Amino acid sequence: MDVNVVLLISILTTQCGTQTVQNVKDLRTYLFTTNAYDVRVRPIANQSDPVDISFGLSLINIVNLDVVQEVLYASVVLNLSWNDTELGWDPTSYGDLQSIQLPQGDVWTPNIILKNSQSGASGLGYAALNVKVWNNGTVEWFPSETFAAICNINVKYFPFDTQTCPLTFIAYGYLPSEVILSGVPGGVDIGDYETSPIWTLVSTSYSVEVQDDDVKIVFNIELKRKALFTVISVILPVLMLTFLNLCVFFVPCTGGEKSGYSVTIFLSFAVFLTLVEATMPPTSSPISLLSVYMIIMTAESTVITIITQIMIRCSTFDEKKTIIPHWLIVLAELGKFKYCRAKCVRSKNDEVTSVDEKADGVKGVVEAFEDNTKSEKIYTWVEVMNGLDCFLFIVFGIFTVLVAIVMLSVLGSS
Ligand SMILES: *[C@@H]1O[C@H](CO)[C@@H](O)[C@H](O)[C@H]1NC(C)=O
Ligand SMILES: *[C@@H]1O[C@H](CO)[C@@H](O)[C@H](O)[C@H]1NC(C)=O
Ligand SMILES: *[C@@H]1O[C@H](CO)[C@@H](O)[C@H](O)[C@H]1NC(C)=O
Ligand SMILES: *[C@@H]1O[C@H](CO)[C@@H](O)[C@H](O)[C@H]1NC(C)=O
Repeated sequence: MDVNVVLLISILTTQCGTQTVQNVKDLRTYLFTTNAYDVRVRPIANQSDPVDISFGLSLINIVNLDVVQEVLYASVVLNLSWNDTELGWDPTSYGDLQSIQLPQGDVWTPNIILKNSQSGASGLGYAALNVKVWNNGTVEWFPSETFAAICNINVKYFPFDTQTCPLTFIAYGYLPSEVILSGVPGGVDIGDYETSPIWTLVSTSYSVEVQDDDVKIVFNIELKRKALFTVISVILPVLMLTFLNLCVFFVPCTGGEKSGYSVTIFLSFAVFLTLVEATMPPTSSPISLLSVYMIIMTAESTVITIITQIMIRCSTFDEKKTIIPHWLIVLAELGKFKYCRAKCVRSKNDEVTSVDEKADGVKGVVEAFEDNTKSEKIYTWVEVMNGLDCFLFIVFGIFTVLVAIVMLSVLGSS
């Protein structure tokens, strides 16, 4: 209760003080003429002691995290304060004047720079920016800036990646024995943070690192990408393409459509590969898993295109002139499950139905094959190619689904 009353009185006296313009002018004369304040002198009575700068950071906005250039653009307000023993006055002599505003160039300021700046080191604030000086000598400075900070990007789990970007500040030119930086209890203040459409702010932290020749304060900003856009615009279309790619085996070899179809799918993969690569840093040491997946799928599409071209060529052969290799017939029959059908037919003829025999696939193939040679069934090249289409559809289908499952589970587990 007592504390509240004192606080109320102090607020009332601050606001309803009877300061006049003359009071402020007198104070300026006192500080700068009588006391001869020198901005070049480190403001501490014992020059062997360091000036303690209380260093807070308020994150306003993530303007952009340029993943290709590896630069974080963040709009922040710094909250710096220190005790200047050369400033300070007795309020009663100046109409109870508690604080004044002075241009930042009129008082000593620590030479704070962003060490990992992408655009070169420059001082904080601007000439017309005021600092607030309290009658007890405390100086408060709130420079605001959009920093471009170099940030190492790891796109391994793109688009489900999390990036941690540091903002490293140092008091440039001062030794730890001259200026020390200390964080404020709250760390990074995100009270005024405006959410970014691309990144979710996961966490913030800070640490003070004292080395032999400099002291730095590092604010870490951890950001997680909002993946929905990339999932909809890249991952889903690529998954759909992988299944369209399999449909090439439904197109008959005759008619000339098959070749065009497979090449179109290959080109589509190339386009999406370019799209994904354009969003990555060119020198990423861990390559993105999504790129690896795209490369595997493009390679699969290349193999399918080559096989398709060969099959189209083969389908023009005359089986009377060019003998069909036996292994091709076996594969074609595997694809069409001919061995089963042949067996079923034979079983009916023999009026013997054996479930066990049917289940024995490999044996069945060999038997069916023997059956065919026995019955001297003549396949045409086109028939064999059609059977081969079915076989290849199954093989590439299993491969595609397996790779997609592995990719999605690895990405999802990040
Ligand atoms: C200044 O500080 C140093 C170390 O803290 C101390 O040794 C020295 O005596 C101090 N000087 C004065 C004048 O107080
Ligand atoms: C200024 O001095 C006061 C009293 O000694 C202390 O409580 C405060 O933390 C100091 N401020 C800074 C920024 O070091
Ligand atoms: C001076 O006053 C300000 C505001 O009332 C306060 O935050 C600061 O800690 C004080 N500093 C000292 C050295 O007492
Ligand atoms: C600056 O930091 C101090 C803590 O040291 C906090 O009390 C104060 O509210 C902050 N000021 C602003 C404008 O963020």
